[in-house]
Amino acid sequence: MSRVAVVTGGTRGIGAAISEALHKAGYKVAATYHGNDKAAAEFTAKTGIETFKFDVSNYEACQEGVTKIQAALGPIEVLINNAGITRDAFLHKMTPQHWRDVMSTNLDSVFNMSRLVVEGMRERNFGRIVTISSINGLAGQIGQTNYATAKAGMIGFTKALALEVASKGVTVNIVAPGYIDTEMVRAVAPEVLDKIVAKIPVKRLGKAEEIARVVLFLAADENAFATGATFSVNGGQYMA
Ligand code: CAA
Repeated sequence: MSRVAVVTGGTRGIGAAISEALHKAGYKVAATYHGNDKAAAEFTAKTGIETFKFDVSNYEACQEGVTKIQAALGPIEVLINNAGITRDAFLHKMTPQHWRDVMSTNLDSVFNMSRLVVEGMRERNFGRIVTISSINGLAGQIGQTNYATAKAGMIGFTKALALEVASKGVTVNIVAPGYIDTEMVRAVAPEVLDKIVAKIPVKRLGKAEEIARVVLFLAADENAFATGATFSVNGGQYMA
């Protein structure tokens, strides 16, 4: 059986590693992206994974996107809510736009995509939803009142939805990565990033593949009992 999996923000960074891991494991994967056509084309050329372009922060765009994916690949059985952005600034410098952009891309997207696939999952008595949160949603972080709020919000959402669908063969979980070697983390000023890495007990950034491993584990059919849970993968930086 080859299940259909959607990875939002699935062409770059952690999302790309998740898309590739699912693809290698035999899933039919749809990787969504929003802006970067060049990265998406390169990703498909390299992996053979189909991409779908739409804005996950917009409900109507997600409706259209999900319809297209289902027409191309079949009913969505696995959803990986991965798409995310940062707009870091101290709160005393943060603009309402910084706040809204992060809340809509990182958190509204989780509602939008989950809402659109959950009915089918309930009907078919099978589904796996994994949402990528962050160490910073658990521990807080300077410059990230917006991001930490969105990432913490995902955890409440996941626990509530896990209860709703537990009797329907659907599991809903969180993976909370620490600092992973991606463009997003490399965008932090080197002197600030050095301070952060110095506090990671394993003394290095994580690899995107190290997150993908855990996502694959949670997406598996065999993972029918872990639900509503948060799995930290952070090199020991924060032990919740
Ligand atoms: N840890 C330790 N110290 C930090 C820090 C951090 N995360 N962030 C800022 N600081 C310190 C700075 O080193 C600086 O200290 P000094 O005055 O001693 O030099 C002080 O706070 C002020 O910082 P800036 O001079 O950089 O102030 P700014 O207004 O120009 O920028 C900022 C503020 C945008 C928050 C910037 O400091 C920054 O980008 N910090 C990193 C924030 C961060 O960790 N973001 C995570 C991005 S990756 C991600 O989000 C993925 C994930 O899920 C883990």
